[in-house]
Amino acid sequence: MMEMTKFDELAEAVLRPGGLILTRWLAEASEFRQGMQVVDLGCGTGITVEYLRDHYALQASGVDLSKERLELGQKRLPELPLFLASAESLPFADGSLDGVMAECSLSVMENIEKVLAEANRVLVMGGRLAISDLYSREDPGAGAMTFVNWNSLLTRHGFNVLCWKDQVKYLKNFVAGFIMKHGSAEELWQCLRQRRQGAFKEREASHHISYFSLVAVKEAHRILARKG
Ligand SMILES: C[S@@+](CC[C@H](N)C(=O)[O-])C[C@H]1O[C@@H](n2cnc3c(N)ncnc32)[C@H](O)[C@@H]1O
Repeated sequence: MMEMTKFDELAEAVLRPGGLILTRWLAEASEFRQGMQVVDLGCGTGITVEYLRDHYALQASGVDLSKERLELGQKRLPELPLFLASAESLPFADGSLDGVMAECSLSVMENIEKVLAEANRVLVMGGRLAISDLYSREDPGAGAMTFVNWNSLLTRHGFNVLCWKDQVKYLKNFVAGFIMKHGSAEELWQCLRQRRQGAFKEREASHHISYFSLVAVKEAHRILARKG
């Protein structure tokens, strides 16, 4: 039998579809290299931050609004740079980071426009924005943005999408695991709903909602975000 690594065990605690498999996908597609400065938005207990530091030797840090989750992370590893801060107002200087990650967190944030403006502000030109999140395959009324919506939102904020991949199989596994544990996925959809679009209905969600990973590059300053 294969031995469980530290990260196999930690992956169990990750609150998102795909866990560290999709973290690896994002890091590879972003071409993150040793020493790069990267922040994870909505980092929870900091498992991604720890993984990026251990596996890619990045100067990774994380921000989250949940004091409890950050404390759990710091209990696990006291030296982990996790900060109690909102992604809408990041504690980093302009143009100081090479990468911004957001795994299953952007769509639960109150003001996604502000968060993207902040991501643009803190990134260097050419810096990467790496996202995994929910999207709606066809029906914009299903409670999530379509690819077209995501793409135009990112473009308005000065980002150009370099690669995009549907990751629905990981969402299916995640939802199935949740149902096994809790009997229904209703609570999960409530928690994952995209605030701008209202709550998901379980039946609609299982038909229309999918999951993606994408990497975008900062190509312009946030001036674009002010238009329209
Ligand atoms: C679905 S969880 C995902 C957590 C983590 N990325 C993971 O994959 O395990 C969303 C996280 O976003 C955090 N969050 C929500 N709004 C936030 C904001 N404005 N700024 C920072 N974190 C926020 C929540 O506290 C929560 O930890």
